Parts: sequence; C-alpha cells; structure tokens
Amino acid sequence: YRLWLRYDRIENPDLLEKYRSQIKSINFEVKSEMAGVAKKEILLALNGLLGKKVTLDATNLASLIIGTPESSSVIKAMVTANEIPNSPEGFLIKTFITNSQLKIVICAKNDKGVLYGVYHFIRLLQSNSSLDKLNNNQSPTIKNRILNHWDNLDGTVERGYAGSSLWEWHKLPGFTPTRYTDYARANASIGINGTVLNNVNTNALSLTVPYLLKTAALAKVFRPYGIKVYLSARFSAPIELGGLKTADPLDPQVKQWWIDKTKEIYQYIPDFGGFLVKANSEGQPGPQNYGRNHADGANMLADALAPFGGIVMWRAFVYDDKVPDDRAKQAYNEFKPLDGKFRENVLVQIKNGAIDFQPREPFHPLFGAMPATPVMMEFQLTQEYLGFSTHLAYLGTMFKETFSSDTYSKGKGSTVAQVISGKLDEHQLTAIAGVANIGSDVNWCGHPFAQSNWYAYGRLAWNPEFSADQIAEEWIRLTFTNDQLALTAINKIMMESRETIVNYMTPLGLHHIMARNHHYGPGPWVKNAGREDWTSVYYHKADSIGIGFNRTATGSNAVAQYFPVVAEQFGDVKQVPEKYLLWFHRLKWTDQLKSGNTLWNELVEHYYDGAKAVDSMQVTWQGMKGKIDDDRHEEVAQLLKIQFSEAKWWRDACLLYFQSFSKLPLPAGYEKPQ
Ligand code: GCU
Repeated sequence: YRLWLRYDRIENPDLLEKYRSQIKSINFEVKSEMAGVAKKEILLALNGLLGKKVTLDATNLASLIIGTPESSSVIKAMVTANEIPNSPEGFLIKTFITNSQLKIVICAKNDKGVLYGVYHFIRLLQSNSSLDKLNNNQSPTIKNRILNHWDNLDGTVERGYAGSSLWEWHKLPGFTPTRYTDYARANASIGINGTVLNNVNTNALSLTVPYLLKTAALAKVFRPYGIKVYLSARFSAPIELGGLKTADPLDPQVKQWWIDKTKEIYQYIPDFGGFLVKANSEGQPGPQNYGRNHADGANMLADALAPFGGIVMWRAFVYDDKVPDDRAKQAYNEFKPLDGKFRENVLVQIKNGAIDFQPREPFHPLFGAMPATPVMMEFQLTQEYLGFSTHLAYLGTMFKETFSSDTYSKGKGSTVAQVISGKLDEHQLTAIAGVANIGSDVNWCGHPFAQSNWYAYGRLAWNPEFSADQIAEEWIRLTFTNDQLALTAINKIMMESRETIVNYMTPLGLHHIMARNHHYGPGPWVKNAGREDWTSVYYHKADSIGIGFNRTATGSNAVAQYFPVVAEQFGDVKQVPEKYLLWFHRLKWTDQLKSGNTLWNELVEHYYDGAKAVDSMQVTWQGMKGKIDDDRHEEVAQLLKIQFSEAKWWRDACLLYFQSFSKLPLPAGYEKPQ
C-alpha cells in the first residue's frame, strides 16, 4: 500500500548515525496549505527514516532549512536569488558548511517547488545517498504531467487490472477517504501535477452539477499537492445535457452551451485543468459527424476554456471502421493537414505508436510532423497488451525507446523527447499523459512491479533524459531494499522484462496478435470480427509464402509518413531494425536474417528465448528470498509462475499457428518443448 513512500528506519547503522547527526532540527515556516502538506511529509519521513523525532527550530541554527526566500528570512540570507531555479516548479537542495556545521537548504521560488524538493530530499534519504555535498538544482522538462484514468462512473475501469475505480462516486462529495490523499502524495512525490478522472469513452453525466460537486471534492483533496483535475468531455454533451439538436462545433448555440458549461465548471473548481477529448474514434461522437474537422471541435472547447486558462487535450487516436486504409496511417492523414489550425491552448495527444500500445511499436509518425501545434505523448501504464497485472513488465525501457527515437523532423537529433518537451519547435505549452494502472487493490496496481510503471512514468515526465536503469534502481531502493546484491538482481529482472514479453508475444515487429477484445493471451488466428483490420490475421498476414505487413511503397506505404531519413531506413528491408522487421515488411519464411538464420528459425528462437527468460526470472527471484519481505516475495513468485506458463502458452500457440503456414520444422535443439 505504501508504494515507494516507505519511511522505515534506515537499516545501515553507520548511515543512520550519520543522518541523525546531520539532521537534528528543522526550520520550515508554513504560510500555505501546500507548505503545510510538505512539512507534514518531511516530518513523517524523518521520524520514520531516522527513527526519532527531529526538533523544530525557527532559527538559522536548524540543520534542515526549508522554504522560499519569501517565507523564510533564513533562506533569503543564505541563498542568492539566482541560484534558485526560475521555473515555477523547480527546486534547489544544497548543503552548506558554516563553522564546520552542516546545513541543508531545500528551497524554491514558490511552494510547489518546495513540495517537489521535499519529496526529492526524502528520496535521497530512502536511497541512502550522501548529504555531504548536495547541490541539486532541478526543474521539470514537461509542464503538464498528467494521469489519464479510464475510470467509468459505475466504478469499473476500462483496461483496469487492479480492482475497481479509486473514485467512490456514490460517496462523493461527502466522503473523501485518506486513500485520496495517499494517491495525491504518491503523485506529488514523482511530480505528477494533473489527473483526468474519467474514461475517454465517457458519457455526459460527468459534466452535470452533481458530478461537478464530486469532482470539486476530489480537486480540494489534490490541490495542496499541486494536482489539478481535468475531465474527459463527451462531444455530444450539448445534445444529451443541453437538449440541443446538434453538437456541431460551428453552431452558435452549441458554442454557447460549452461556454456556459465551462463557466459553471470553474465556479465549482476554480483551478480546473481542462478537457480531454476522444472524438470520432471507435464510435465516439465528434466534429466529423457534422462535416467539421478535429480543429473545429478542439477550438470550440479551447475558446470556452481560454478565459480561465484551461487547456484541451485532443486525442489523435482515431480509429474508424469507415476508413478502409491501413489503420496505422489514419491519425497522420487526419491530423497532419490541420497543423497550425489549432488554438494556442490545444494540445494534440498522440499515443506512442500508431496502432495501439503494443508491446513494441515504432514511434508515431505524427511526432515531428506537426511543428506548429503543441503535441503531447500518451503512454499506457496499464498493461492492456502486456499481460495485465499478471506479467512482470517494467515499461521504463519502453518509454525511453520512444523518447529517444529520432524523428529527423529538423535533422539528426530531433528526438521524440525534443518534440514533447517543446524544445524542438519552441512551444511553451507542453504535456504528457499516462493511462493509469491504478485501482482499488491494496497494492494499487495489481502486480507489485506494476507500481514501477507509475513511478517511472512520473520520473520520465519530469525529465525524459533520466535513464530507465537509473529509475529502476531508484524505485527498487525505495520500494524493496538498498541491498546491493538484491538491487543488481531485481534491476536485471526489470530491465529485461519488457524485451522478454516482446519475445514471447510479438517478436520481430509482429503486432496485435492478441486474443480478441480483452487482449489477454495469444490470438493470431482471430478473424471474422466483422472487418478486416479488426482481425489478427490482418496484422501478421501469414500464409504459405511468408509473414509480415508490407508498409513500404509496394504496400500500404505507411513508411512515407515518416521523415525521409527514417522512411528510408524503415522502408528498406536491409536497414530496418529487426525489432520492426515484420511491422514494415513482408518476408518469406526462408529469407535469411542478419544472424544467418532463416526468418522462421529466428522467430522460433525469439519465442523460445522469451519463455526461457521468464524461467530465469523465476530463478533470480527465488534468490531474493529473505532479502525482501516474505509477503511480496511470495506474491511475485506466484505471479512469475503464472507468467512462465503463459509465456509457454504464447510461444506454443503462436509457433504452432504460424507453423501451419510455414510447414517448417522447429530447428535443431527446439524440437522438444522446453
Ligand atoms: C484501445 C483500448 C480501448 C480504448 C482505446 C482508446 O483501443 O482497447 O479500450 O478505449 O484504446 O485509447 O481510446
């Protein structure tokens, strides 16, 4: 339950002694609710980690001094103004030695930075870092770091695998359990500053007054932790709630309805963040129903929000059964022509890949393709296609893979991270979204390791330059142990986990061959779903000759949506990274790959390697017994056991199915299932 906010006493006795001698007293003058929660947190953490109460000292003799130059005259005297980051959320943590006395200052321009600084300082203690020479000056790279809850008002969670929704709508606004505060603490500790409470597939009910009151109650809990609330807005709400005949974004009455509704929302929630919209996708209503485009729809909402400083996050995940072309191309085709047509307070929210949160996808071609529009990233933390909360998948590596992909939109180095941070195209408005994996389960995320994806998302949203490895290590230290052997072993499990899943599910660029609808388990044979591109067969196209989706110029030509350097690389079977091979190319079963293997043999190797790696994970995990608490050890051990049998299920199901086309034997050494 405590996630990474575990404040148990420091185990190493020497370090504990040292910390105790370094942090004896604290000076933290509180002038706001936000500073109040920061103070409460640091006291809770210090009392727990140091195993004794630190004293409060309002003088400059205190060893830990926290605040802003405005709130604290001591800080004003100790720190020069230009040392403190100028950004509204940045902080400075610095060690001073005066008269051979060590003092640590945590300061910022305002209380939000102080809050983040406090959490960072706690993290340093939890991970047993030295306090001797701190000079840590940090500011977030991306401004709006948001969770997207796909929570329905009936308590279910779309693609949620950790129990039901956290939001007890029927008890709100009167009842706000401490769990909401703990949710806010966890988010603030990793810099998440916004949350969309309801599913993108939403009805209009969430915009009615009773629900606005409930939302306002949540906003009140989250506010001191620097978290704004947002709502998914149903595009047709003017019809459903307003009784209008249309939701046409150019209709004056419709515009007025949204203006009035928005005004009403701000009456209840003065710092409301804005709307997230899924329009004209998978049956959701949108501007195209009225012959208008995405910009018309987004701009209408943006105009209503602008007077209050709200934003619109308009999703580019458009997926429509009326569009016959390769599904991977639809978003680019619809959005690229609209570049520059959106209002200043609109962001286009793009999934990391063009299909749908697959275990591996090449980056979405829209990144870099809309330089005149702020675009934001949408990652999925909930493991819809990665084994739900049963399989161990650390996604830090996946997020990094997308971030570091080079779009070449402005030449070499135009990475997705550069696009998202607004640096490449000089946008002030920047944002990132993570589809939450949080629910009512005692451990919040279902699998104990699924917590690491919430954590990694927050840390990378703060700074996409952090490494997946470093974040994994940090998370293990905070969540499990600082023991070096255990750290190395668990880190290895995490760092290899996603590649392992790719291997036993969708190696070499295969994609969307999961079972139908629920997406759990293999289903490469799925067809007859009513339309060709809702079948697995559509994506792998296996037949007696070969396998793979030809997205080159001789096929759907989706590669042409990338900038020329990338298009050339992906479009050339000799240059394409093998991890994307069958995403872009169709090959014969007997074609030779870089390893010298035939495609068929290579496929077999990947599937077998994947299953074998889960077995090794189990062995490594067994070695962790005694190094971490028995409960979590046992839970993970049981889950890994299921994962191992399901990895074999994936391997055998896919290979047997593909073998029915290739008609080739398993290569030597693989004949017997391992
Ligand atoms: C996927 C997912 C849906 C979700 C959709 C979306 O298709 O399976 O449940 O609604 O993505 O992102 O809108």
